[in-house]
Amino acid sequence: MEKIVVWYLRMSIVYFVAGAVIGFIMILDPETSGRYVTAHAHLNLLGFMSMMIYGVGYHILPKFSGRNIYSPGIMHAQFWLANAGLIGMAAGWTLQTGRAESLLIISALLSFAAVVLFAVNILKTIKAV
Ligand code: HEM
Ligand code: HEM
Repeated sequence: MEKIVVWYLRMSIVYFVAGAVIGFIMILDPETSGRYVTAHAHLNLLGFMSMMIYGVGYHILPKFSGRNIYSPGIMHAQFWLANAGLIGMAAGWTLQTGRAESLLIISALLSFAAVVLFAVNILKTIKAV
């Protein structure tokens, strides 16, 4: 398995544990759950689920289609964009100060760019001959 794929999977598990910890904190302290719920949801959905799909997809889909990944460079760049974007979004939603607004917008852009890069890289990889 490629090193970068292992890192996608590792980070997915890190976000799963972080999302679960925040979920557990919200159960213990429902008064503050409004502050954490969006970070919790995205750590689980964009962190655990999407990051797992990025990693498994990059490992399996080229094999299924009998090709190499279209762009290993995009696969690496997307990893950093997705992680920086998610951590920034989770921090921005949790901090909820004036400054978090710009942190949120920049991080959301990074996350969105990662989604688009994944879409392009996978679609180009599985393109029928
Ligand atoms: C240890 C595991 C988990 C715990 C303890 C937990 C706990 C919670 C709590 C307390 C809330 C707030 C409910 C409320 O008052 O509105 C919540 C919301 C949410 N959780 Fe979790 N959760 C866990 C795992 C997950 C996982 C694995 C996912 C997704 C894959 C997930 C997705 C969500 C989403 C999307 C919301 C927001 C729902 C909404 O928009 O109201 N959670 N969770
Ligand atoms: C580019 C990536 C993404 C961005 C920028 C983004 C942004 C947002 C924003 C701004 C909200 C509203 C938060 C609020 O109420 O203040 C939201 C809510 C939500 N998003 Fe995303 N999102 C992204 C990806 C995803 C993905 C991939 C999923 C699911 C697989 C998802 C599931 C949800 C859910 C369930 C909610 C409601 C959670 C809550 O109760 O706060 N999002 N998202």
